[in-house]
Amino acid sequence: MTLAPWRQILIGVLHRNRKQPYSRYFQLATVQSCGYPANRTVVFRGFLNDTNQLKIITDSRSQKIDQIQHQPFAEACWYFTETREQFRLAGKLTLIGSDCDDVELQKARVSTWQELSDNARVQFAWADPGKKRANPEAFAPPQPDAVKPLPEFCLLLLNPVKVDHLQLKGEPQNRYLYTCDELENWTCLEINP
Ligand SMILES: Cc1cc2nc3c(=O)[nH]c(=O)nc-3n(C[C@H](O)[C@H](O)[C@H](O)COP(=O)(O)O)c2cc1C
Repeated sequence: MTLAPWRQILIGVLHRNRKQPYSRYFQLATVQSCGYPANRTVVFRGFLNDTNQLKIITDSRSQKIDQIQHQPFAEACWYFTETREQFRLAGKLTLIGSDCDDVELQKARVSTWQELSDNARVQFAWADPGKKRANPEAFAPPQPDAVKPLPEFCLLLLNPVKVDHLQLKGEPQNRYLYTCDELENWTCLEINP
């Protein structure tokens, strides 16, 4: 697996925007079975080991799961306010749930669970997301095991094949398009903003 040229650039941008905790949030768009887009904010949980895949966590009961199973193509849109630049990362999602039998990916799921705060872990024991509001007791479950993930806990990986990087600073602005071919070779083209 060749590391993509945009990966190190994104890591640098995250570092330069580190003062703002919300720099780790991006929007992830998926496609519903009816063809409509669905978009939501998620937290960037780092890269999967030495790969170009972005880690996200999510709940197996959430609406995005059906969408991803139906159509794994997705696009992330990420704006960094301090340095004023946008990344649009388009690619395929891989869902790693409790039933995933790939040993390495299951290991990544478990270690991601173990790295979460208690506060983040307990949300996977809350009442079904997207269903009619439950009673308060449904949001006060016992604290889940910190080692073994709850079955609802999923690791989601976004493997970009196209990355569009726009920098607003500069006159005129700068824009770079990174694309990946079937042999996983990346090329970068400077394009008009
Ligand atoms: C700042 C912020 C961070 C969020 N982070 C996540 C996340 O990492 N994973 C996630 O599944 N939902 C996250 N959410 C909630 C989602 O935006 C969304 O409401 C939820 O996942 C249900 O989406 P769905 O119905 O499209 O599946 C976050 C929301 C906000 C406002």
